[in-house]
Amino acid sequence: MAQKVLITGGAGFIGSTLAAHLQSSGHEVSVLDNLSFGRRALAPVPDERFHQVDIRDRAAVLRAVAATDPQWVLHLAAIHFIPYCNAHPVEAADINITGTINVLDACAAVKSVQQVFVASTAAVYPIADGAMAEDHATGPMDIYGITKLATEKLASEFCLRTRIPTITGRFFNAFGPNETNPHLIPEIQKQVLAGARTLQLGNLDPKRDFIHTTDMARAMEALLNAGITGYDVFNIGRGIEYSVREIVTAFERQLGEKLTIDVDPARVRKVERMHLLADVSKLKRTTGWEPQWGIDEGVETLLREKL
Ligand SMILES: NC(=O)c1ccc[n+]([C@@H]2O[C@H](COP(=O)([O-])OP(=O)(O)OC[C@H]3O[C@@H](n4cnc5c(N)ncnc54)[C@H](O)[C@@H]3O)[C@@H](O)[C@H]2O)c1
Repeated sequence: MAQKVLITGGAGFIGSTLAAHLQSSGHEVSVLDNLSFGRRALAPVPDERFHQVDIRDRAAVLRAVAATDPQWVLHLAAIHFIPYCNAHPVEAADINITGTINVLDACAAVKSVQQVFVASTAAVYPIADGAMAEDHATGPMDIYGITKLATEKLASEFCLRTRIPTITGRFFNAFGPNETNPHLIPEIQKQVLAGARTLQLGNLDPKRDFIHTTDMARAMEALLNAGITGYDVFNIGRGIEYSVREIVTAFERQLGEKLTIDVDPARVRKVERMHLLADVSKLKRTTGWEPQWGIDEGVETLLREKL
C-alpha cells in the first residue's frame, strides 16, 4: 500500500537512491536534509516535499515531521565519514545522537507515524574474523561507531516507549552512483575517470562487504513491508567481501586495461580492520530479499557516471 514516507538524509548518497526507489514503488516521499554533505539536486522530490532542516534543531524537526504527516520515517541523516568524525567528535555526537533523539521524539509526537527505520552501521561490530551476525557482541572502535551504537539504543528505547515498530539496519559498505564522501570505490572511480592508470591508494589488503545502494534500498523497503512488530536489528550487506586489490581488478575488467597501484603513505590508515563481512541470513529469511547487483555491474555503471 502506498505510504507517506519521510527520509532524513534523503539528499545524501544512500538516501537519494532510497527516495527514488520508494517513489518508483508508488510511495509519496518527503526529504529532510540540511545539505551539509548531501545535495538538493540528488533528492528526487518537489520543493514542497523538501525540508532543509538541521536535525539538531528540535523545533524545526518537529515542524517538518508534522507538516509531512508520514506513516513511515527512515532516519539516515548522520555524519559518517570516519576521518571526519574522528576530527570532529563533538559534532559527530551532536548530530548522530542528539539529532536522533530529536527525530525520534518528533516521530513519537506526530500521530501518523506507524513505522520507523534507523540507519546504523557495521562499525558497531568489534574487529573479528568471519561473518558478523546480528547477535554478535558489539564493540565499536571509533567515535562514529560509538555514536551509531547509541543511535541503536535510542531506537530500541523509542520502540519500548511508543510501541511503534522500529527497525535498525546495520549498513555495510555502500557503493553506487552519487557518492558524497571520499570512500575507496569513488576514489578509484575519480582517479580512473580523470585518466589515471596508476592509482594512489592506502591499505590494499583490508576486505569489505560492498553492497550496491539499489540493493540497500530494496532491502529497506522489504523490511518495512515484512510486518515486523516491536524492535529488530538487521544487517544490510551483500555477504561477500572484497579486498581493495579485488576492487581494482573489477575496474580493470570493466576498463579492459591494466591498472597499477602506488601505495600513498598519507592514505594508509593507522588503525584498520582486516575484515568486515555481513551475515545476511536473517534479512534473507525475514524478507526473501536477494542482492541483484554484483561488483562488476556496479563498477560498469560508475565508469559511465559524469563526475
Ligand atoms: N555509506 C556507507 O557505506 C555507510 C555505511 C554504514 C552506514 N551508513 C549510514 O547510512 C546513512 C547515510 O549515509 P550516506 O553514505 O548516504 O552519507 P551521506 O553523507 O551522503 O548522507 C547523509 C545525509 O545526511 C545529511 N545530514 C548530515 N548532517 C545533518 C544534519 N545535522 N541535519 C540534517 N541532515 C544532515 C547530509 O547532508 C547527507 O545528505 C548514515 O546514517 C550513515 O551513518 C553509511
